[in-house]
Amino acid sequence: MQTHTLSGRWCQKMAIRQDNNVNADVQDNEEVLRIEDLHTYFYSREGVVKAVNGVNLSIKAHTILGIVGESGSGKSVAALSLLRLVPYPGKIIHGRVYFEGMDLMEIGTEEMLRVRGRAIAMIFQDPKGSLNPIETVGKQISEILLAHSIMSVREAADRTMELMRELSLPEHIFKRYPFELSGGQAQRAMIAMATAWQPKVIIADEPTSNLDTTIQADVLARLERMRSEKRSTIILITHNMGVIAQMANETAVMYAGSVVEYGGTQALFEKPSHPYTWGLLQSIARLDEPNRALRPIPGSPPNSIDLPDQCPYMPRCPKASNECRLNVRPPLREIEPGHYVACYNVIEHS
Ligand SMILES: Nc1ncnc2c1ncn2[C@@H]1O[C@H](COP(=O)(O)OP(=O)(O)O)[C@@H](O)[C@H]1O
Ligand SMILES: [Mg+2]
Repeated sequence: MQTHTLSGRWCQKMAIRQDNNVNADVQDNEEVLRIEDLHTYFYSREGVVKAVNGVNLSIKAHTILGIVGESGSGKSVAALSLLRLVPYPGKIIHGRVYFEGMDLMEIGTEEMLRVRGRAIAMIFQDPKGSLNPIETVGKQISEILLAHSIMSVREAADRTMELMRELSLPEHIFKRYPFELSGGQAQRAMIAMATAWQPKVIIADEPTSNLDTTIQADVLARLERMRSEKRSTIILITHNMGVIAQMANETAVMYAGSVVEYGGTQALFEKPSHPYTWGLLQSIARLDEPNRALRPIPGSPPNSIDLPDQCPYMPRCPKASNECRLNVRPPLREIEPGHYVACYNVIEHS
């Protein structure tokens, strides 16, 4: 029985080793993940919350895709949908998510578990809820290392300490239980677990939200190393435009459950073409223009229970026209190669 278990574990390790080699074999610019027309609704007592309402995205190998948008725009629910982890009373209504020739929305439960355990890692926005409450932090990180590579328990413990140091977690945390950690420490413990192996894709949902600036820099550096050294592809969700500017190769802007603008980060910052993206950029402080006044976007996001058929940004949009009032929500349209905008009155840049 024991031999069987050992050989089973050995085979599992070998299989994972082979998987890891594939990370480097994937060509740059190859599409790793493709999301088509994803819809996820919550059936609450108050009505149907259209949390994700038609998300389309494509993510290229070895890049960082930033997803940005105000709180409530559906970023977390979209991320949870990719791995079919939407909590009750949520339901994925429609959509396809292509990954390694599979549609993640269609595969069986067993196969989905394999994808979660061996290919796609998730850093959840709520870290405490995702750590095992009855095991020490050190043991949890070490176990991930032991499951994904061939090393001794001692080596795994050493490597765990190294990972913790990289993320500025003090040594004594190794022997602590999740309930003894601060929010920021729990967040970093989870980041250590998600980046201890070589996932093909890492989905990081607000990984720096509870952290002060220096520790935030450690986390971002760790994610960047996962991309450059381990060749992981990263989806980085944040409401912080500064983090996007620093980290993301491409950026998707979400509003009321759908992507309203998507393209290379530089193009998006230099030529924001959807009035919402323009508004977001106006509202943040810029290092190169320190004296410019911050201008928050007037109004607030729509109630996702009664989303209109028209563009959901229309009530707040300085460029809203009759065309917006008379037509359904504009689809994403390619305005320049690789730059997509869902708007009837795209901002022109000369
Ligand atoms: N468990 C839930 N039940 C009902 N509505 C939910 C639930 N989780 C999220 N939502 C709703 O889905 C929408 C999107 O939420 P979320 O994806 O968490 O936004 P973001 O991550 O962009 O801040 C919000 O309107 C939110 O209220
Ligand atoms: Mg969120």
